[in-house]
Amino acid sequence: MEIHRYEKIWIAITISAVILMLAAISLASFGLGLQLPGVAGSVDPAKLAQTPPFDKPGVYQITEGKYQVVMVAFAWGYNPNEVRVPAGSRVTFKITSRDITHGIFIEKTNINLMILPGQISEASVTFKDPGEYLFLCHEYCGVGHQAMAGKIIVEPKP
Ligand code: CUA
Repeated sequence: MEIHRYEKIWIAITISAVILMLAAISLASFGLGLQLPGVAGSVDPAKLAQTPPFDKPGVYQITEGKYQVVMVAFAWGYNPNEVRVPAGSRVTFKITSRDITHGIFIEKTNINLMILPGQISEASVTFKDPGEYLFLCHEYCGVGHQAMAGKIIVEPKP
């Protein structure tokens, strides 16, 4: 088969563009370490029950006004699915999944994380105003997806 000279040039340009793209993606992910927001480590999803802090999910006070929420997502819910903190608290969420990919979005905040099995996701937010903040799963995860939700109750300062 005879390939025209101009055709060969275009084939070369096309292949170069693909190689350049792959090189740029590799550089971004391995060289510059770009990744999903909030990634804070890894954990074996099959051993969460034996791995601190995920062996004891819950709400922990770190210091005055600072809390850590250790959370495990699963099909189809969150443990804990209700978090209570006083207004003005700085809350750090440490979350992983024990089964499949989920997500968490907390309304009226900038918390919006992917939750992957094997990965620890972390993000912090300060809850200034008392009230209820709904959180829900934003990654389709099966028939119970639309019911996968919980709430943060921010209580007025005593
Ligand atoms: Cu979990 Cu959708």
